Amino acid sequence: MRMPRGGRVFLAMCLGSLFILVLYFQSITRPAGEPSVNKSIPHAKGRRSPLQTLYNGDPQSELWLSQKLSLQDRRDLLEEACLTHTRKRRVLSPEDLRHLIVDDKHSLIYCYVPKVACTNWKRVMMVLTGDGRYSDPLDIPANEAHVTGNLRTLSEYTVSEINQRLRTYLKFVFVREPFERLVSAYRNKFTRSYNTAFHKRYGTKIIRRHRADAEPDALEKGSDVSFQEFVQYLVDPRTQREEPFNEHWERVHSLCHPCLIHYDVVGKYETLEPDAQAVLRLIGADGAVRFPTSGKSTRTDGDMSARFFNDISPFYQRKLFNLYRMDFLLFNYSTPQYLRTQ
Ligand SMILES: *[C@@H]1O[C@H](CO)[C@@H](O)[C@H](O)[C@H]1NC(C)=O
Ligand SMILES: *[C@@H]1O[C@H](CO)[C@@H](O)[C@H](O)[C@H]1NC(C)=O
Repeated sequence: MRMPRGGRVFLAMCLGSLFILVLYFQSITRPAGEPSVNKSIPHAKGRRSPLQTLYNGDPQSELWLSQKLSLQDRRDLLEEACLTHTRKRRVLSPEDLRHLIVDDKHSLIYCYVPKVACTNWKRVMMVLTGDGRYSDPLDIPANEAHVTGNLRTLSEYTVSEINQRLRTYLKFVFVREPFERLVSAYRNKFTRSYNTAFHKRYGTKIIRRHRADAEPDALEKGSDVSFQEFVQYLVDPRTQREEPFNEHWERVHSLCHPCLIHYDVVGKYETLEPDAQAVLRLIGADGAVRFPTSGKSTRTDGDMSARFFNDISPFYQRKLFNLYRMDFLLFNYSTPQYLRTQ
């Protein structure tokens, strides 16, 4: 599974000029199990840092041990997939770190991915970083959780502060089966009448480009985009040439840079509750904060995705799969059974 030492050194040399990751990279290349974290970061009041709890902590129960091992397997798989499938290495700029939310109190960084329980995670981050105004995440209205400024992102720090946090904080991300996430985004943004901002901003453009003989009303409102038209918009090379994808359908690979940022916990929507509990336990907040289990956003399962994909031709299915391929590979999602790509 692990890369031989020589390969790592070579990689390290290639990366020698990275500016943000210069210091941080040492933590990726450290041999497995070597505790590089406790010599440099004395944690507040002698408490273990979340990283120490994850990598050096004694498991107190069988269940916790097996959960930690499964998190380790996901990290190994991600690292392996990154080495196999990414060729170009690029430099991260602070602008790339806009999705990383920082909690300095608990030495925690969360990369948020829309349509993967991100409202509830933002609520939890507000409770964790707050001054006690909220104790139950569900007391926070959903729209408040998305107000920029309520939470700090890593892009707001200086380069040395960024490096220090990337090296010493527990970093986590939550992912979801890519096409279920995509169908969920489509349903939420294009089939709900209240989402007029999305209809105007994206719907009108999609209909103009991808519907022949569109009615004037549809061109003006953009409120009845079909899934097929949405897919055509996504795979159209013009779309990404003109501007980056909206975050609701942008790939996790592009939002969170999982091959450049070493995530300690890769949580999955499919196992949301135990994975969320594990993060809270690692930061010692499992007694204080409960991850909301109700109020999950638009429910979408495999059967529903299959129904939506039924209308998509094999040609477009293949193009779409190629577009989201990295998210399938990096997070160990298998190619959906319903896909007809021949
Ligand atoms: C690191 O942690 C280990 C075990 O927790 C401890 O024995 C050791 O003294 C620590 N090293 C430093 C430099 O704090
Ligand atoms: C990857 O997926 C396969 C098939 O679903 C599963 O058996 C395996 O345990 C997964 N590996 C990891 C590291 O999650």
